[in-house]
Amino acid sequence: MNPAPNLILVGPMGAGKTSIGRRLAERFGLEFTDVDQVVVERCGATINTIFEHVGEAGFREREKAALGQVLAETGKLVSTGGGAVLDRDNRLAMQRRGFVVYLRVGVDAQLKRLGRDRSRPLLQRGDREQVLHDLAATREPFYLEVADLMLDTDAMSPGAATTALAQLLAAQWQRSEQAA
Ligand code: S3P
Repeated sequence: MNPAPNLILVGPMGAGKTSIGRRLAERFGLEFTDVDQVVVERCGATINTIFEHVGEAGFREREKAALGQVLAETGKLVSTGGGAVLDRDNRLAMQRRGFVVYLRVGVDAQLKRLGRDRSRPLLQRGDREQVLHDLAATREPFYLEVADLMLDTDAMSPGAATTALAQLLAAQWQRSEQAA
């Protein structure tokens, strides 16, 4: 049993962090928080607009601030953006403040799931497949580094993934109420 005050989902775009996260939060009586959504609400702008105005680096600063604030709380199911693991402080904060689940997905499934998506600035280009391969090569080691548990979602619906995770978490995660 691994005690932690929050559950945290990491993984690439299209892994199902939001859809699985909402379902899991309900099962475990946790409050669902999507870090991207916190950034959008704080800035009063979409992720695309934030990238346009302050670039990826500016977005990462805002993402880091939002993640730090969310992780100071307890009893949360935290869905993180696919690039949140790039920052070392973010990775340390996640490990300190949560039981971290890596939702894995391969590029083929990502392309299917994100086919019509226009909300992710990193995918607003023609060579989506290459971009997704490159992001995976850079980020996979970081997802593995922070994760307490990994689930491959390639062939799973959000409902099936939630059921599988709920069983694994019941055996491996112990909710603790320790303050920040
Ligand atoms: C990003 C993933 C997005 C969002 C932003 C950047 C990334 O979140 O944070 O578009 O760098 O992979 P999701 O993983 O929830 O799509």
